[in-house]
Amino acid sequence: MLLRKKLIAGNWKMNKTSADAVSLVKEIVAAVGKVHDVEVVVCPPFTCLESVARMLEGSALKLGAQNMHPEPGGAYTGEVSAAMLRALFASYVILGHSERRTYFKETDAFINQKVLAALKSQLKPILCVGETLQERESGATLKVVQTQVEQDLDGVGKDLATNVVIAYEPVWAIGTGRVATTEQAQEVHAFIRSLLTKLFGETLAQKVRILYGGSMKPANAPELLAQKDIDGGLIGGASLESRSFLELINAAAAVR
Ligand code: 13P
Repeated sequence: MLLRKKLIAGNWKMNKTSADAVSLVKEIVAAVGKVHDVEVVVCPPFTCLESVARMLEGSALKLGAQNMHPEPGGAYTGEVSAAMLRALFASYVILGHSERRTYFKETDAFINQKVLAALKSQLKPILCVGETLQERESGATLKVVQTQVEQDLDGVGKDLATNVVIAYEPVWAIGTGRVATTEQAQEVHAFIRSLLTKLFGETLAQKVRILYGGSMKPANAPELLAQKDIDGGLIGGASLESRSFLELINAAAAVR
């Protein structure tokens, strides 16, 4: 038995109307029925969560959101709370994506509040971390990732540690077609696992899934997924079409 079940999550970003989402997810559900060794999560925009949740009923697929606000409710125009997501049967929520850090100026302190609020509401955070090209070229990758992991997970108790999923997404690899090499990715994944060991101890750290994200495609996935500390993928572009997403799920299922 593998210690960590592989996880393939599709981050649809700002794509798909509700009708488009339903037809995509129908195709995925029909095919994924046959795969049991991989946990599959789809993260549509808020506007499609309800229609996608209906399509997922009775299937093994799980639903995730792409963001949430840390407060339980109130005057936060345009935002949604953890409880609202739970009410739509979401199990996961992507937090700290680099697009939110960059375009919406989300800080580690704010992301940390979201992580704690998500866990409190039984939502599993998929916490995204990763360096920019400039940070990599200046040799700051591990320092940047360390700061993000430590600050974003501040105050997370050991009892909830295994509900956390980390996604290592080098910013320079997102949507660029420029994927990290297996060595680059495995180095950072192993480093993240060592940080988790410091925070939660060895046994729990071995159970936390660390996903790779950034131009993951059927062609490069098998090699990445075969790495010791790469436990799945957070997929952008290739999750918008059932064929490529299913190929990625099958690639994860093929890893032994
Ligand atoms: P791409 O797979 O399109 O590079 O996006 C990765 C990503 O940002 C997933 O969250």
